[in-house]
Formats: sequence, structure tokens, C-alpha cells
Amino acid sequence: MPVERRPLRERIAAELDELRRQQLFRTLDLPSGVALSSNDYLGLASDPRLVAETIRAIRESGKVGSTGSRLLAGNSKDWERAEEEFAAFAGTESALYFSSGYAANVGMLSVLAGPADVVFSDSLNHASLIDGIRLSGARKVIYPHGDLSRLEEAFSAHRRETGARLIVTESLFSMEGDFAPLGDLLALARKYGAELVVDEAHAVGVFGPGGRGLVFEAGIAGEALAVVHTCGKALASAGAFVCASREVKQYLVNRARTFIFSTAAPPYLAQQIRAALALVPAMEAERAHLHAIASALREGLRAEGFSVGTSASQIVPLVAGTSAAAMAWAESLREDGFAVRAIRPPTVPEGTARLRLSLTATLGREEIERLLGACVRARGRTEKALSARSPI
Ligand SMILES: Cc1ncc(COP(=O)(O)O)c(C=O)c1O
Repeated sequence: MPVERRPLRERIAAELDELRRQQLFRTLDLPSGVALSSNDYLGLASDPRLVAETIRAIRESGKVGSTGSRLLAGNSKDWERAEEEFAAFAGTESALYFSSGYAANVGMLSVLAGPADVVFSDSLNHASLIDGIRLSGARKVIYPHGDLSRLEEAFSAHRRETGARLIVTESLFSMEGDFAPLGDLLALARKYGAELVVDEAHAVGVFGPGGRGLVFEAGIAGEALAVVHTCGKALASAGAFVCASREVKQYLVNRARTFIFSTAAPPYLAQQIRAALALVPAMEAERAHLHAIASALREGLRAEGFSVGTSASQIVPLVAGTSAAAMAWAESLREDGFAVRAIRPPTVPEGTARLRLSLTATLGREEIERLLGACVRARGRTEKALSARSPI
């Protein structure tokens, strides 16, 4: 009997239709209006000093392609210097650059843990951390977001397993805008003989002395097994450094497939990152302004009865509930001149579709005031539109 096989193209079309039906269909749009989805937290992406340094680096390097993997032709003094300087910035013995934060997390976690090990992962960890853990083949134990007592229970439940144990967490959570209890996590790691891995993607440049991040601020940079700092957000570039001991770096150079089997980034990018690193520690005024407008926005939204969850940073989630409501709020804000996108499941848990308001130091106080008014209008317009559609 011939096997009935559904054509692949038919399945693709059906899945896309289903996404449209569930209001989960995504499109690539060009942002316009006041940027509220940008991770350029310090406004460095268009800083004339950084632009000038990058142009100078391209002119002087005489070679705009790296020509190969770092293990073949692609290594350069520029990358070696960038890694040395980044390790000094992050307070670790050494650092290894990957071409994206996603590649760093997947490449690192897939080899730091193995099938005999247990990885304890915060429930709100980023997709790149989740995918790295999955690829490692380790047993994954998800603990409720930031819940130390549930994490401790999980350690007890898995006390008989003999493999290594790893706690994996973001330091500043990308969707909630709240912080991991890093000191407590390290204490638990010590108590149960585990290692700690931290992703500083949204904290680097913004928190800690000179923007060195929350791990540095907590004084535990030398104790975590690895700390990931991405360069595509406050550092206005691309890629990420895994900051760790010399031995962990050597291990990743020998084992991490996203490092080994990938062309090195061009050398001028190393110069751009070094230039950003030279500017970031002194950007105290930008950091202070960013924290002040973020706090004004959180307070203003709470006073208007919105839920901003546990946010305590420049990332302010405006929880709408259903995907339809989040889409309608985003549409209304766009009409009022704000570039914002709805974040829907599966990126966030079901029923917590939201707008992720991500502030940058280039926003002024008057824009925050206007934004508050636009949020109130968005809620009102959506309630009206949804109740007009309801049968009662
Ligand atoms: C917490 C976190 N880790 C890692 C990444 C991935 O970094 P990249 O964008 O450099 O691939 C992101 C990106 O959005 C992130 O939010």
C-alpha cells in the first residue's frame, strides 16, 4: 500500500494559517516613530564618537573580512586584544568572543553540560539558554522564576544524581525587566556543589560600576563558571563574550561548535567593540538618566492602574493579557508615534501577552510623559473596540 504523505509545502501553509488564526503570525516591519523596542540602552549605536572610531578601524585594517574560522585563518590581534580587554572589564581571567549571543549561549551550554548532568534553569530564561541546555542532553529542571526555595527543593530532589550540577540564569530578565538574586544563587550553588552560569545581555553597560554588569557588582565575577556579555545591546555592536577562567576558554575553543565551525567576525568589529568599551565606563550621566526615566515610567504606569510586573529596570513590560489586546495596544501606540511591538506566546507565558517597553538614554522626560498618555489611550481604545465586538 502506498504511504499517504502530507506534502511539506501544504503543512507549511497550514501552520502559517493557524498562526494567523491565533493572532501569533509575525511579520518583518520597518520601525518608525519613537523607538521603544530598541536595546541600544545608552544610545551608543549612533554616537558620533563610535561611528568615527569604526570608520577609522575599517580604513586602517585594510582587510574587511576575517577570511576564516578563528582556528584557521580568522584569528587576529584585534580579536585577541578585544578578548583581553573584555576580560579585564568583566573581572574574569579570560574571555572568548562568539559571533552572536545566541551562538555563545548555545555553543557554551551544549558542551559545559552533558547527558549525565542536571541543569537548573530559571523558567524565564532566554531561548538561547534553553536551546543550549537542550543540545547538551543534560536533564533540565526548570525552577519558577527567581524562586530560591523551589530551586533548593529541586536540588534535594536530585541529590542522588552523580553528574555535575549547573544553575543557569539571566541577571536582568529580558521580558520581565527584573533581577536574579545572584548572591543567593551562588550561595545555593556552593551549598549543593553546583556551578553558576549567568547571562548579562541586558545588564552590561547599564548596571554595575562603570556598566560592568550585575555579576561584577555582586563581586562574584571570578566565582561563576561563565558569564555571558552580549555586544548587540548597550555596546551597540554584535556578538558576545563568554567571560570565564583560562581553562573554560580553552575548553570552549576546543569543544564549542558554534565557535569552531563559524567564520570569525571581521577584525574592524573587534575595534568597534574596543571603542565602545572605552566609552561605556564613563557614561554615568546616560546611565543615571536611563534609570530615572525608567523609574518615572514604571511609577506613572502603576499609578494609572497598569501592571508592569516586577520590573525594576529599563525594560518595562506592559502586560495586556491576550494576544489580541497586546496587538491592539501596540497598534494604538504606533498611531500615536511610538515604535513598539507586541510580545506574544510562546515568547512569554500564555495570558501574559504584553508590550515590552525598552527605554534608551536618548529618550527625554517629555517623551515619557507622552508615552504615559498614549498607554492610557491605547487601553481605552482597545476596551471600546473589544466591547463593540462582544455579543452582549
Ligand atoms: C538574555 C539574552 N541572551 C542572549 C541573547 C542573544 O543575543 P544576540 O542577540 O547577540 O544573539 C538575547 C537576545 O536578544 C537575550 O535577550
